[in-house]
Amino acid sequence: MKMEQPVTTSAPAQAVSPRKWMTPDIVRQAEQLLSRMSLEDKVGQMTQYDWGFNPINPETGVSQRDLLLEEIRQGRVGSIFNLSGAEEANELQRAIQEHTSQQIPLLIGRDVIHGYKTVFPIPLAQASAWNPDLARRTAEAASRESLADGVAWVFAPMIDVSRDPRWGRIAESIGEDPLLTSQYAKAWVEGAQIDDGAGQATASCPKHFAGYGLAEAGRDYNTVDLSDHVLREVILPPFREAVDAGALSIMASFNEVNGIPVCANPYLLKTILRDEWGFEGIVASDYNALQELIVHGVAGSEEEAAERSILAGCDMDMHSGFYMRHLPKLVREGRVPERLIDESVLRILAVKIKLGLFEQPYVAIPPAEAAAEARATFTELAREAARESIVLLRNEGQVLPLRKEGVSIAVIGPLADNSKDPLGCWAMDGNPADVISLLEGIRQAAGAEAGAAIHYAEGCAIDADGEDGFEAALEAARQADVVVLALGEALEMSGESRSRTSLDLPGAQRKLVQAVAALGKPVVAVVLSGRPLALPWLQEHAAAIVQAWHLGVQSGHAIADVLFGDYNPSGRLSVTFPHNVGQVPIYYYRKKTGRPPAGVYSSYYIDSTTEPLYPFGYGLSYTSFEYSSITADRTSMSANGDLNLSVTVTNTGDHEGEEVVQCYIRDEVASVTQPLKKLIGFRKISLRPGESANVTLNVQSDSLAILDQDMKLTTEPGDFTVWIGPNASAGQTITIKVVE
Ligand code: BGC
Repeated sequence: MKMEQPVTTSAPAQAVSPRKWMTPDIVRQAEQLLSRMSLEDKVGQMTQYDWGFNPINPETGVSQRDLLLEEIRQGRVGSIFNLSGAEEANELQRAIQEHTSQQIPLLIGRDVIHGYKTVFPIPLAQASAWNPDLARRTAEAASRESLADGVAWVFAPMIDVSRDPRWGRIAESIGEDPLLTSQYAKAWVEGAQIDDGAGQATASCPKHFAGYGLAEAGRDYNTVDLSDHVLREVILPPFREAVDAGALSIMASFNEVNGIPVCANPYLLKTILRDEWGFEGIVASDYNALQELIVHGVAGSEEEAAERSILAGCDMDMHSGFYMRHLPKLVREGRVPERLIDESVLRILAVKIKLGLFEQPYVAIPPAEAAAEARATFTELAREAARESIVLLRNEGQVLPLRKEGVSIAVIGPLADNSKDPLGCWAMDGNPADVISLLEGIRQAAGAEAGAAIHYAEGCAIDADGEDGFEAALEAARQADVVVLALGEALEMSGESRSRTSLDLPGAQRKLVQAVAALGKPVVAVVLSGRPLALPWLQEHAAAIVQAWHLGVQSGHAIADVLFGDYNPSGRLSVTFPHNVGQVPIYYYRKKTGRPPAGVYSSYYIDSTTEPLYPFGYGLSYTSFEYSSITADRTSMSANGDLNLSVTVTNTGDHEGEEVVQCYIRDEVASVTQPLKKLIGFRKISLRPGESANVTLNVQSDSLAILDQDMKLTTEPGDFTVWIGPNASAGQTITIKVVE
């Protein structure tokens, strides 16, 4: 079988013009509106508030929401987020229509990160599918659900390249690789920006632009210090993809770049985003980030923070209220040109026009039946996405897949009878009642009909030291032929502001594993976590290890599908798993050092390996795949040419299965230091037992390009080593040459 389509290759971001959505017609409409607006009306459009933040003033008894409603009626608010449902959305839109002179509908936002009511796997899990198209479909489903509730602006995708598992927000990311993240960024933006065919549409908001994922020591909100090379080669390419895919907005991050927090950073917001990339959409600040300019110590007052932000190119102020309080005065005093206000407002109005909000500010409440029907389709998709997100890390003695018939299974652990934590870190619209727990999934798959005996015990809590439940767990295990241990993290342990210094299982879980394993029964460990955990010791106790992340509403069904072989696991890690915290940050895309590979003065640890526990791209299957050596139609090309490389991949086992064929390169000698390996393309293929596929990779010179010392994108002549294989630590190699 010949794979006709070439594998996608990476092209460092530069020189492509973004999709233009702001048509002359949209601009004309926006300008007409603008010409009728007062300065206060305009700044109102640049102002956004969190409707969910609702403290009540104890002295006056007045709630924040009452004050906000008054602001909305005055036309001093352009966007609101964190509403709860269609009725509330319609109510606020009605306040605009009935009370304001300009009647400009609100842009209603929400963090729709991995699903809305139907909760899908966390993004880091979806990334393990190495299937951007799947993410396109989950993003689209989430936007359909949220739009039905009046949410026309989803604060997604999160595309911060993330290399530190201590950072809780790694859960929301696509992982450590710029190419994989870029491909997901494109698909996610395309999926999230729906047009419902009846005049309403949604905008995405790729975030956090840029560098937020490199917070020092993995501590959320911590300082970021990154070179221009890392910024442009690692951090920015996914954002460039998102912009080129037509993203209608982008969120400026909390962190600093070159000493300037992004909301006040013209290098990022103007030079790169507008001048180099031609971005037309809205730049929104992250939550209260204008206020943070004061805390960062780069603005001495609210006024100064507002001034720096507008001058830097931030169009919308999320929640601080600084723009509303200070911009009109700053304009009147001549410190801020009104032209800048007009430009920002024009973009905001243009997005509102594009989304159809002026024609249809309200959403229809669908009949219950139609909503239930849509929900069923999304639930099916949630199961498909969850299955594909699971990564099989170990399977000694082929303990998996498990039999269903005539078998006795102990299901033990704090994540087993648990329908809350699989929802994951951004699931405020999800409902635990919709979640299939692992215990339920196993019962439905093997219990009733197949007749397996299931013995359940919790064993211990997720994050407490108590061992009172151990005896019941051991009793359950004694009765069983095989033990499934459901281990991991609570949903509150990853996500925003949830950084950890330990990457071990919390609480008494490790002791529980040791006690159960001592019985000598085969143990299958299922790890439900929001980050890579460092569990080298688990390999000594568990014959099989299944990395199941937080998988959303269909978690239990999806894991059961894998455990019983109804689905052959196909997930591959999008992030390196370390042996220990001391190795962090550890990622495959690292540089050579000047040191020899071994010896006392090489770059190593005296007390730990430098190798990962599981490398980037790694994952097992119930079948096995063999790679032929690489053949090439030619082995040299010019600096603007291309060539084709092929391998034959054969399914040598006895299950049908999917393999992710990965292609990495190394520029052996370049004018600027280069990574040891860099992913330039991949292809997910499905093979029946005995079947072979010929996978052809079209290597284009721009996927070999580097940024030279003048930050110019250039393909330098010389040798490149290429690997094609199953992960970042394996593969067949060949040398190719770029000639002058
Ligand atoms: C987060 C963003 C989020 C925003 C609104 C911030 O704290 O960093 O990711 O979109 O809040 O909820």
